[in-house]
Amino acid sequence: MQIKVIVPATTANLGPGFDALGLALNLWNEATFACTSDSSISVTVKGEGEETLPKNADNAIAEAALMIYDLAGKTCKGLKIDCINRIPLGSGMGSSSAAMLTGMLGANGLLGNPFTDEEILKLAIETEGHPDNVAPAMLGGLVASILHKERVISMRLPTKANRGPIHATLALPDFDFPTSQARAILPKDVTRVDAIHNLSRVVLVTEALRTGNMELLGIAMKDSLHQPYRLKLIPGAISALKAGKEAGASAVALSGAGPSLIAFSPKEDEAIGAAMKREFKAAGLGVRIFELGTSYEGAEVTII
Ligand code: HSE
Repeated sequence: MQIKVIVPATTANLGPGFDALGLALNLWNEATFACTSDSSISVTVKGEGEETLPKNADNAIAEAALMIYDLAGKTCKGLKIDCINRIPLGSGMGSSSAAMLTGMLGANGLLGNPFTDEEILKLAIETEGHPDNVAPAMLGGLVASILHKERVISMRLPTKANRGPIHATLALPDFDFPTSQARAILPKDVTRVDAIHNLSRVVLVTEALRTGNMELLGIAMKDSLHQPYRLKLIPGAISALKAGKEAGASAVALSGAGPSLIAFSPKEDEAIGAAMKREFKAAGLGVRIFELGTSYEGAEVTII
């Protein structure tokens, strides 16, 4: 028996929804899992990270899979994991959450599902440390999450984006900005002014995505809690954000902790990506552009 897992990319924060809001994107990683009897853990990778990712038990997908075996009290004799990676690594597009969920769901499938989806989600969120990539990767669509008495409550919110009319252009500069670093540079405390700035806007971001009101999205997708600190550390990011808007995007934000920027528009428009690319290039960085829809579907597991 083999288990196939597909998991989407995600964009977290959506401007003011720091550590709370995330949205699934239509870009998918795939992996197949098979038990082997030769007591080795082997991983093959095609696509993103093909050259650099570990091909043994140190691989993040394998680590997450072995965690599930451990928690289920089972021993894994041998495991072969074949991955097709489309989500760029360290990009702000949820590659680490996707890897973790892939490993957990794959192992859970091989073991006959000792854990429910809810338990897997909780475990993945605890391991990741914040819910806003893992939850939409698992559930699909736009997801809001809160911590409540040791529990994470993740809820899918209605959104017009789920039915397709909102387009996302991601500009990914060739710049190393690990999430751990991007979190470490944030101040521990926030002012009341900044808290109110974000609280009031995040409600309107969800409303704009629900109704497809792109003008409102552009007004509301502003942040005072993380973007001002992070954007200035990514060369060209401040100008690229501005250029994306000037080129016609309704709203532009840092995607997750960056370094990619995500621009939302009613339909695909090459000028938006080109404008963001120009600014990153002017700052000396290579750039990749991703033209993506959003995904109403989350992770899927099939027996093959
Ligand atoms: N909410 C997290 C952060 C997302 O901004 O640090 C990381 O992808």
